[in-house]
Amino acid sequence: MEKKLFHWGASTSAFQVEGGYGEGGKGVATTDVRNIPVGIADSKVASDQYHHLKEDIALMKELGITLYRFSFNWTRIMGEGYEENQAGIEFYNQLIDLCLENGITPFPTLYHFEMPQKFVEDFAGWQSRTCVDMFVKYAETCFRYFGDRVKYWGTINEQLIASAASDLNGNHEANSDQKMKKMYQMSYHMSLAEKKTIELFRKTVENGMIGPVCSMQVVYPESPSPANILAARNAQDFLQNCFLDMSVFGRYPTSYSNYLKNKGWYPETKEEDAELLKNNRPDFIGINYYCSTCIRALDEGEDTSKLPPFYRNELFTLGDNPYLTKTEWMEFGIDPEGLYIGMRDIYERYELPMVVAENGLAYSDKLDGEKVFDPYRIDYLEQHINQCERLIEEGYPVFGYCPWSLLDLVSSHQGFKKRYGLIYVDRTDEDVKECRRIPKESYFWYKERIQSSK
Ligand code: BG6
Repeated sequence: MEKKLFHWGASTSAFQVEGGYGEGGKGVATTDVRNIPVGIADSKVASDQYHHLKEDIALMKELGITLYRFSFNWTRIMGEGYEENQAGIEFYNQLIDLCLENGITPFPTLYHFEMPQKFVEDFAGWQSRTCVDMFVKYAETCFRYFGDRVKYWGTINEQLIASAASDLNGNHEANSDQKMKKMYQMSYHMSLAEKKTIELFRKTVENGMIGPVCSMQVVYPESPSPANILAARNAQDFLQNCFLDMSVFGRYPTSYSNYLKNKGWYPETKEEDAELLKNNRPDFIGINYYCSTCIRALDEGEDTSKLPPFYRNELFTLGDNPYLTKTEWMEFGIDPEGLYIGMRDIYERYELPMVVAENGLAYSDKLDGEKVFDPYRIDYLEQHINQCERLIEEGYPVFGYCPWSLLDLVSSHQGFKKRYGLIYVDRTDEDVKECRRIPKESYFWYKERIQSSK
């Protein structure tokens, strides 16, 4: 892909930025009812983009981006889940039209963590195949209303997290063994939903591109011991290959299948699924990257039950990388070269174009008068952009770069203290104030970086 097709963009997601809780016919999402510790912001107001849409798009134009990566909120488009909600559809029509009028290509993701709470209550959400049909119905609605103007589409954001985070998907099974089994079943259903969606997309959206957005795993062994090398390979299969191999080739890595079968966790499938999964390949892969992961083999008798579900196994566990600089919110460290390593590997395995859909640094930024100085973020972004340019120069097809996030938003689990934005949003966890927008130093830096690359 030629460099001139490259898009400078920025990224957000609906439940983290929109707010507008219960407004315009929006149904109740899992993210609206989850238990959030006292003192941490929820999604009800978030960054209040629902009421600041024009202002946000004017800020994007001023910034000079040509790609806005956002997500559709399932419950804004489908209300409680079953019926189209015209007011919600109108909100996104406005968003898309404003983007296009300002020279910004809209790049929505269909599923970014939230889903109708009613589905969790009615049929246990993704645990049931009914959810696959509901997702396709929702995707069909989006393609029908927006497919004439929207040409870049993400399917599922970070299936690793989407299938594992119970507060987002409603898997509240108490028995830990059953919970794991359900997680793998839910993930399988998400893959089916993705493939059916791509099948439909080919028939309904002309000249469009669609693909998954993965949580890219750049896995390093903690040491060169064979046990740690094997642990790192296992981690690569369980944290990334199981999702992307499914998205692209329609099959799981053998090590993953074997392990799940031995544990009694292999999902229930139907014979006719195989054909659907094998076909309907995506057009690109979206890359979310914050840092690499260091992995080691387990010590004898080590307890993994407190780790996130995807680390709860006997095959690998989290190690520590002493070579990386760590910060309060970037506890795995900062590793720009990891972006290059990971994307190179993904290209070699799947040979598909790639777009960086998320990449950013979290910090508890402070407002200083009417300014925010965030040189640490500028440094992080510059170093990662350099790695992107290195990939492009070497001939890898990278068609865009979107920092996470365009503006401060509710972090997935840590509220408003953990900020990623190029634009400061004046609110705290406990006081939503007016959600005033104040471009940070990194905003002005990114604007210049875009200008100078033209
Ligand atoms: C990605 C998600 O996992 O990382 C985003 O796609 C999320 O939704 C981002 O916000 C940063 O993670 P966190 O937990 O710091 O918000």
